[in-house]
Amino acid sequence: MLEQLRELEEKALHELEDVNSMEALDKWRITYLGRKGSLTIILRGMGQLPPEERPAIGQAANQLKATLERAYEEKAETIKREETLRQLAEERIDVTLPGRPVGPGFLHISTRTLREIYAIFAQMGFQVVETPEVETDVNNFQLLNIPPYHPARDMWSTLHTTREGVLLRTHTSPGQIRVMRMYCPEPIRVILPGKCYRYEQVTARHEFMFYQVEGLAVGYKVTMGDLKGVLTNFARQMFGAERKVRFRASYFPFTEPSAEMDIDCILCKGKGCRVCKYTGWLEILGSGMVHPQVLRNGGYDPDMYTGFAFGMGPERIAMLKYGIDDIRYFFANDLRFLQQFA
Ligand code: PHE
Repeated sequence: MLEQLRELEEKALHELEDVNSMEALDKWRITYLGRKGSLTIILRGMGQLPPEERPAIGQAANQLKATLERAYEEKAETIKREETLRQLAEERIDVTLPGRPVGPGFLHISTRTLREIYAIFAQMGFQVVETPEVETDVNNFQLLNIPPYHPARDMWSTLHTTREGVLLRTHTSPGQIRVMRMYCPEPIRVILPGKCYRYEQVTARHEFMFYQVEGLAVGYKVTMGDLKGVLTNFARQMFGAERKVRFRASYFPFTEPSAEMDIDCILCKGKGCRVCKYTGWLEILGSGMVHPQVLRNGGYDPDMYTGFAFGMGPERIAMLKYGIDDIRYFFANDLRFLQQFA
């Protein structure tokens, strides 16, 4: 029996020399040390031995078990170390390679368009003032000649807050009231850019959030001629010096008279195409002479002062200028769209 154990030891250790992977090592362990392994079978056979031989054999068998277990541990160590070294060699990182470049940021197309608008009006002496996006019903409507329940409210689908009389401004025109009350009785020449909100079904032509740029000039002798001059100059700088413009009579409760300005279609040059819906003209803004009651609401005496105001959408202007056919692209944050204007 002792002989059998010695042979087993020799065979096991010899075989272990050729083991080179964890899988093979596991197989080896099962063969010699497992529940059905050679050593276990020998130990089970001990019952048949004469009692006086059992202690010596038992001791030798336990010794062998310990030897094989230690050999197993050592081999496992070696295999793991080799594995790690191999991995380190194979997956070596070249730390001298240059990093992946992070591109510089760029302005959003709406911001770029806004800045172009500021620059043009700055030449004509207009300064930029920002007014709040959360407004009172009073500023957004009532002081602009739109009383509660007046049918003119249908022109602006409104997002109300849970606070009675507080809403998200539907246009930048309430800024007219704020600025007049801030500057009165000084003359005014400002543009008021910012976000506006409307309770709209979102479509290719309508967003629930968009920018507007309001303009307001108030002074002793501000005329409709000034309005036409300023806006014509703007249109030609924005869309090309050869632009024709026309003013169409329109209606806004806070201007009288009111006019919308069109430019001749920049695509077909007025001949008629899909973009201008075969009219030859593109509408770009609403405007008018500030209504006497609105001047009064701002603190200005309409017998002494007159003014003009206008409002335009920079997204709409960018759409016309760059041939963008869906306003939803602006705030969908798809880089494939935005990067075209980098
Ligand atoms: N506030 C108007 C709108 O949103 C535009 C406008 C502004 C018209 C100023 C006239 C004067 O439709």
